[in-house]
Amino acid sequence: MPPIVEITALRKAYASGFEALKGVDLSIEEGEILALLGPNGAGKTTLISTVCGITTATSGTVRVAGHDTVEDFRAARSMIGLVPQEINLEPFERVKNTVRFSRGLFGKSPNPALIEKILRQLSLWDKRDSQIRELSGGMKRRVLIAKALSHEPRVLFLDEPTAGVDVELRRDMWEIVADLKRDGVTIILTTHYIEEAEAIADRIGVIAAGEILLVEDKDKLMSRMGKKELEVQLSEPISDIPASLVSDALRLKADGTALIYTYDTKSERTGITQLLSDVAAAGLVLRDVVTRQSSLEDIFVDLVSEGEAP
Ligand SMILES: Nc1ncnc2c1ncn2[C@@H]1O[C@H](COP(=O)(O)OP(=O)(O)O)[C@@H](O)[C@H]1O
Ligand SMILES: [Mg+2]
Repeated sequence: MPPIVEITALRKAYASGFEALKGVDLSIEEGEILALLGPNGAGKTTLISTVCGITTATSGTVRVAGHDTVEDFRAARSMIGLVPQEINLEPFERVKNTVRFSRGLFGKSPNPALIEKILRQLSLWDKRDSQIRELSGGMKRRVLIAKALSHEPRVLFLDEPTAGVDVELRRDMWEIVADLKRDGVTIILTTHYIEEAEAIADRIGVIAAGEILLVEDKDKLMSRMGKKELEVQLSEPISDIPASLVSDALRLKADGTALIYTYDTKSERTGITQLLSDVAAAGLVLRDVVTRQSSLEDIFVDLVSEGEAP
């Protein structure tokens, strides 16, 4: 099946000349939940805004369900629901009307049964006649989601849906996302909370300084977290790993003072005994040996700091 969203070589330079997206390629499969993880200023909102046609790309293409978002804007946009980062609701409007009108904006015929279903799913039915200004911040976020779903999009973008919300609402949001996935909606959410990506995503993309640094199946990334590192500190720095030791699991620390060996804690053999005897056989003298556990947070911080290098 072709990807539901296909982003190719997407660049965005703002009028100031600032390049917020530096050639993004990303394919999103129908039905998946992709979490885009990245620090503030990484380009997450710019990416979503460009895909949704709120911002125009400098170059590159985006296709949604096969429709080019520029040449075939209306068809592409009708496939997309967008929950923006900022709450942008009319304070005096009532909940149900807000959601109904939103459907109308997409040229869809009224569907009271659907609006009721959406409002119930988001626990907004009891508040359907309340004015937006009477709602808590969390309820307003739910209204934003209801609006985004009102025209039955196949792809839902959630831009930092849980930034600044309390733990309880965050858990509710995660459940709402899981429900939508069960209904077959493809979901792309941005977050700077690592545990959020861990909790709900099928795949995790990491973006920093306008570039996608990694897109990987969450479970694979998690199994990478199960790895440990052994740092073999050397009495004398070396410039290259001796040929007899070269392997994918071994790298040299940047300053040459240590060999770093990555191993899987879950496998029967770690290979440490063999490594240490090979190191001795290569004529290297050890100063010390330390182990540490790598986490998704480490992976993320490493990637992001590399991404910021000039
Ligand atoms: N309208 C704009 N004009 C100029 N620069 C912008 C504009 N919007 C965002 N930026 C810059 O683009 C970069 C990416 O911003 P944004 O996409 O909002 O990041 P994120 O959502 O990941 O926090 C930031 O450095 C931001 O300052
Ligand atoms: Mg943002």
